[in-house]
Amino acid sequence: MSSSFQAPKGVKEYVTPRADLFYAIREAFAEQARLAGYGYLELAVFEDTNLFKRGVGESTDVVSKEMYTFEDQGGRSLTLRPEFTASVLRAVLENNLHKQGALPVKVWTSGPAFRAERPQQGRYRQFYQLDLEAIGSEDPQVDAETIAIAANWYRSLGLTRVRLLLNSLGCKECRPAYRELLQGFLRGLDLDEATRARIEINPLRVLDDKRPQVKAQLDDAPLMADHLCGACKAYHDRVRELLGDLGIAWEDAPRLVRGLDYYTRTTYEFDHPLLGAQSGIGGGGRYDGLSEDIGGPPLPGIGFGLGLDRTILALDAENASGSAGFAARPRCEAFGVALGETAERRMFALVAELRRAGVAADMAFGGKKLKGAMKDADRSGARYAVILGERDIADGVAQVKDLAAGEQTAVPLADITSTLKERLAT
Ligand code: HAM
Repeated sequence: MSSSFQAPKGVKEYVTPRADLFYAIREAFAEQARLAGYGYLELAVFEDTNLFKRGVGESTDVVSKEMYTFEDQGGRSLTLRPEFTASVLRAVLENNLHKQGALPVKVWTSGPAFRAERPQQGRYRQFYQLDLEAIGSEDPQVDAETIAIAANWYRSLGLTRVRLLLNSLGCKECRPAYRELLQGFLRGLDLDEATRARIEINPLRVLDDKRPQVKAQLDDAPLMADHLCGACKAYHDRVRELLGDLGIAWEDAPRLVRGLDYYTRTTYEFDHPLLGAQSGIGGGGRYDGLSEDIGGPPLPGIGFGLGLDRTILALDAENASGSAGFAARPRCEAFGVALGETAERRMFALVAELRRAGVAADMAFGGKKLKGAMKDADRSGARYAVILGERDIADGVAQVKDLAAGEQTAVPLADITSTLKERLAT
């Protein structure tokens, strides 16, 4: 019987064995980040509400509609993080990481983020991101490096259908003029009240409207790509060249605008064609003005957030959850079955010895009889059962049973650990 409580609506949780997969793909990411010189951060889950208002932007859906905001006992307005970038930059500045070593500061973090969205498959109110940021450098090589880390990770997981959609959103030199041009175009269209209001606040978001009656009118909309200043165009061309050098395929997506206000220049999304409505499995870009927006010094940056939940759904969709590259390591390789009190005590010590030697080991608890304990051994997923009865103890041996093949051999107690290590290595 379950209890009378359930996790709150829209909260995504992972329990074993699915959570083992979650953990394994996160470990695979940690390895990619390490190889590229990114250090780990463990950050606050809630922040001063103004950090997101000023960082992410008050006109965004994320800030205006989706934040979990509450007042604490001291009357402070706090918000559960809806994303990581503003927090990462806040932490970098607060800890003076940008003054301590070479720039860019390269960091990554991961954990839950919270958005009060309408829950559906792939869209949750508590979801999980891997977030990586390179802060303090305006160099197209850094853009390409970060994109490559994400692409390598997807590849290491065995995903083959991930698409990279790439755009440039210009800079503070060229975007204002383009924004005005776009507003002029949009004001001439037949749009509902809410969309008309959006033209004045956040016109680029209108380009992203998925409704057919709006989309149909956008064919001739001016695009940022055609209105980039010389510096932004050269920068974007260089990023694309570098991606080509790295063998990373992309598609130009001149209508791609992201849901957060801080983006400048390089912006991109990773998309998975088998996921339906929630196909954005990751996204990122440059945010050269964000540091100043939150009261810091000029400090250009770029990074991405990858959705762990949607990545797992993509693995399912590609039938790749079992691919060898990141298969979750077994939780049990050897399972102890002890018959009688003396044997149980000896087994308890043996299991501890196996674990010290790096073998994942477990045993039957609760004084189970042979049949029940062997059932536990099968359920544990172990390759070997180690069976110990009173007679075995007298003979100084234990029976090592290959659970798949059914073969059983007597092995001297002193040699159990080395024998199992040897056999498990093959
Ligand atoms: P974002 O596109 O809002 O970007 O989120 C990144 C990824 O998080 C999405 O591509 C998606 O996979 C996942 N995601 C977002 N919302 C949900 C949800 N409700 N349920 C499940 N998954 C979701 C950012 O958050 C930026 N901070 C990324 C970034 C880092 N840009 C620069 N640095």
